[in-house]
Amino acid sequence: MSFRTVRPSPKSFLIFSILVLLVFGACKKNVLFIEGREVSTQNLVAPKFGIDPNTLFAESKKIMISTDSVDASKVGLEIYKKGGNTIDVAVASSFAVSVTRPSSTGIGGGGFLVYHHAKSGKSYAFDFRERAPSLANRNMYKGRPKEESLLGYKSVGVPGMVAGLVQIQKKFGKLPLKDVLAPAIRLAEEGFIVYPDLSEAIQESEKDMSPGMKKIFIPGGKIPESGDILVQKDLAKTLKVISETGDKDFYTGEIAKALSAEVSANGGAIHFNDLKNYRVKEEKPLEIIYRNYNIQTMFPPSSGVHLFTMLKMLETKELHSMFDFSQSDYYHFLAEVMRRGYSDRAVLGGDPGFTKIPVDTLISSEYAKEKISDFNPGKATPSSTYLSRLNLKAESPQTTHISVVDAEGNAVSTTHSINYRFGAAVVLDGYGFVLNDTMDDFSRSPGEPNVYGLIGAEANSIQPGKTPLSSMSPTIVLKNGETFLVTGAPGGSYIVNAVLQSILFSLDLNLTLYESVARGRIHHQFFPDALSIEGAATDTATFNQLKAKKHEVRLGNNMAKLFCVKRENGTLYGAADPRGDGIPLGE
Ligand code: DON
Repeated sequence: MSFRTVRPSPKSFLIFSILVLLVFGACKKNVLFIEGREVSTQNLVAPKFGIDPNTLFAESKKIMISTDSVDASKVGLEIYKKGGNTIDVAVASSFAVSVTRPSSTGIGGGGFLVYHHAKSGKSYAFDFRERAPSLANRNMYKGRPKEESLLGYKSVGVPGMVAGLVQIQKKFGKLPLKDVLAPAIRLAEEGFIVYPDLSEAIQESEKDMSPGMKKIFIPGGKIPESGDILVQKDLAKTLKVISETGDKDFYTGEIAKALSAEVSANGGAIHFNDLKNYRVKEEKPLEIIYRNYNIQTMFPPSSGVHLFTMLKMLETKELHSMFDFSQSDYYHFLAEVMRRGYSDRAVLGGDPGFTKIPVDTLISSEYAKEKISDFNPGKATPSSTYLSRLNLKAESPQTTHISVVDAEGNAVSTTHSINYRFGAAVVLDGYGFVLNDTMDDFSRSPGEPNVYGLIGAEANSIQPGKTPLSSMSPTIVLKNGETFLVTGAPGGSYIVNAVLQSILFSLDLNLTLYESVARGRIHHQFFPDALSIEGAATDTATFNQLKAKKHEVRLGNNMAKLFCVKRENGTLYGAADPRGDGIPLGE
């Protein structure tokens, strides 16, 4: 037998080198470089078609803005460069996103805002959500078709967005309101580029839209396609009035008259006085200590209080080692925490001005320990256990978030909505803004699920002047007294669990901000008694182990979209959810 040494020819060496480079390149495709780390994309949700994941995370030194609209993030930066502070930036971005995401939010809706002022160390929370009109009553939708609380003038709550944004900007902003509103007016007047999600939303809502609304969103009878320009002249006029009169005309002038007249002429309940008497609520945010961090969130009827009960239950265990040791143990525990947190929301959640919510108890460690004490590591606890215990009978993508942080640690976390896709699907004639359908966030009757499948109880029944229960939970995390993380999301019932997981990924699992936003998530909302898992969250083995623990496991997309900013060692990190359409921007 003879042996021969094979020397590669220069040609085969070249081919071999190219192959190595190709294989290496392919591997690197599944890796992102974030916060100085190499991060595998294996467990991250892929961005929408055509979007480069590298545009979804950013670093800066002076300011960082994350929103669900490229235009709104750009507006935020523009206002900062004009000398605006974080409140100016957030308010300008909100008015801009009202123009560019009219299916999600707008001046006919409402929201919550949490603000941390670095120098004084003080934090503030504002509720400018819709209220039930004075003519509303608990039985107004009883036995009526589901659509009545979702579509048309009967579903409209008294809007609070304009009062909230204008008053907060007046109190804390630096720039004149006119400057803050100028970019939104420009976007409405000159138009903006339609993106696929908006084109789809228009297509889906076409059948529900009033003729006046179709004129705006289906100009010339043609649904705008991605890349087309959408102009909203009437909305531009209304925004101009707001930039000149603040919230005056909207609540006591021409706009108030037109709004109340049109709603009541069409069977709705909003009276002129409902607008005149609209009040923004201001309180201190709720606060807990979670593993050395101070976490601040919105007071009820936001679901921030239930977010806190869940965090306190989670604090009873060390999560990082649990996650590393067994993902099915981790997800089982997390799902059981979610089930219990959402059961409190269903039973107790509502407007604290009308119903007693034992907030101090709900955010205490003792309550959380007791609440999770029946946790069975081997088996899911059926949600019906809590139904019978609580004597409640169960009969059966929209909204938006903005996070802003500057170098000093001034921080804004704010979630805004007109509720379901395109709200009530009516536009105030001649004024160009979409009216909300937030009345559907009340429980029409105890145990009757709303459009997100969420059930509520007597605490969330309809009463005049009352604010419906909300899942929106804008949140700020402080580390050693300074802003560390700003988080929040739209996504109906998914919101609270998404905000919760962004906190766990960042604080407990030490993931980068983009991973905390993009990583696959799980969701359990008490009823339906099912555990929804995103494909990217885990592997088949874990999925099957959770099934073996008797969870009704479903593979499904997570409907919430997180927009977050982190501040660490002098750097600002921004991240926008790959499930959405926005970007973080800073300088
Ligand atoms: O306040 C709430 O809970 C709902 N109106 C939020 C709606 C929402 O997030 C729609 N999102 N996809």
